[in-house]
Amino acid sequence: MRLADFILDQLEAILQEWENFARTLEPPGASMSTKELRNHAAVMLKGIAEDLRNPQSRDQEIAKSHGLEPASPQSQAGEHHGVARLESNFSIEQLVSEYRALRSSVLRLWAESTKSAEQTDIVDITRFNEAIDQLLAASVFSFAKAARKAQEAEKQRRNQFLAMLGHELRNPLSPISAAATILRMANSGDHTIINASNIIARQVTHMATLVDDLLDVSRVTRGIIEVRCEPLDLRSVIDDAVEQVLPQMQARAQAFSVAELREPVPVNGDRKRLVQVVSNLLTNAAKYTPQGGAIALRVDLDDERVALVVEDNGIGMAPDLIPHVFELFAQAERTPDRASGGLGLGLALVKSLVEHHGGKVSCHSDGPGRGSRFTVWLPRRQAAAAQGA
Ligand SMILES: Nc1ncnc2c1ncn2[C@@H]1O[C@H](COP(=O)(O)OP(=O)(O)OP(=O)(O)O)[C@@H](O)[C@H]1O
Ligand SMILES: [Mg+2]
Repeated sequence: MRLADFILDQLEAILQEWENFARTLEPPGASMSTKELRNHAAVMLKGIAEDLRNPQSRDQEIAKSHGLEPASPQSQAGEHHGVARLESNFSIEQLVSEYRALRSSVLRLWAESTKSAEQTDIVDITRFNEAIDQLLAASVFSFAKAARKAQEAEKQRRNQFLAMLGHELRNPLSPISAAATILRMANSGDHTIINASNIIARQVTHMATLVDDLLDVSRVTRGIIEVRCEPLDLRSVIDDAVEQVLPQMQARAQAFSVAELREPVPVNGDRKRLVQVVSNLLTNAAKYTPQGGAIALRVDLDDERVALVVEDNGIGMAPDLIPHVFELFAQAERTPDRASGGLGLGLALVKSLVEHHGGKVSCHSDGPGRGSRFTVWLPRRQAAAAQGA
């Protein structure tokens, strides 16, 4: 019997094998109906059989073997099948397995029922294989496309949530801080209250920084961060950042050094944002370097670029963290007490802010316990523009 006739004649048996195999792939907890497990299979098989019955020209044959066949009911069924399997939580490997099982069960059942091999059988097998390949490709493409779309939607939901969370957390901070000030002023003789209100004020400032980072990150991820560039001398940016972070380093008895810069370091940038970049790198250096460690900042200049390097001799980074360290929420394993704190936002912000300035960032560590080095490259403002500064 020709393959096309066999498929139509034995459709129910083939579908049953397809269903049995698909059932072995069912994701845990799902109990899928026969209809769900067989979905689109009948359309695909009937489509293939109909197609096999029509002779095909050489051009059609070549187009098919190159995967350039025009859309057909079965290829559309293949696309729908890919999306349906994604929605039922199948993996892409399982989707591919289904087609392999279909291919082998059809050919096996057919071989068992056909005693003699004819020349036409070879043509049928080749065409059948191509048809399965085409359906597999249609399913895999649509599976991947739908997966990407779902991921994008998820990312967008997460970003919106972060933005909302940031705003909701920011709102109560000003009144709390104002109340702490009033409390302190109204009780200027009572040390217990003054101490308590100082603690509130300090912690509110800390929370405000966290929340501001969160808001910045959500702006960055939604592509709405604003960078207003003006001619700057990077030295003054460094001074501002150092002023912010120095108390943290002093509290940890860390030795901090800045290589002296005699000449201005001309860049175009948003002062506030660049201070944020440098202070994030310095804060990390202070946070991830033990008491008494050393932190150094230097600037290297060439004709086109300015490199700002922050180096410490602290806890360093494992090789598997380094490629991800600039991603949102990426953090090294923490001790259960999370002594170093943080949300994993700082470096993601640094990267995106630096990129908004046309620059880039990189990091290096010889491994855990062996210190870290972060480098920010910014385009150097050219001499003609520098005169206007
Ligand atoms: N100088 C450094 N030395 C060692 N590890 C570092 C250093 N800087 C960053 N890391 C590692 O990279 C991770 C990500 O840093 P990032 O600044 O993005 O987040 P964070 O410091 O954990 O939190 P946040 O900055 O939001 O307060 C850190 O958690 C830490 O594991
Ligand atoms: Mg940080």
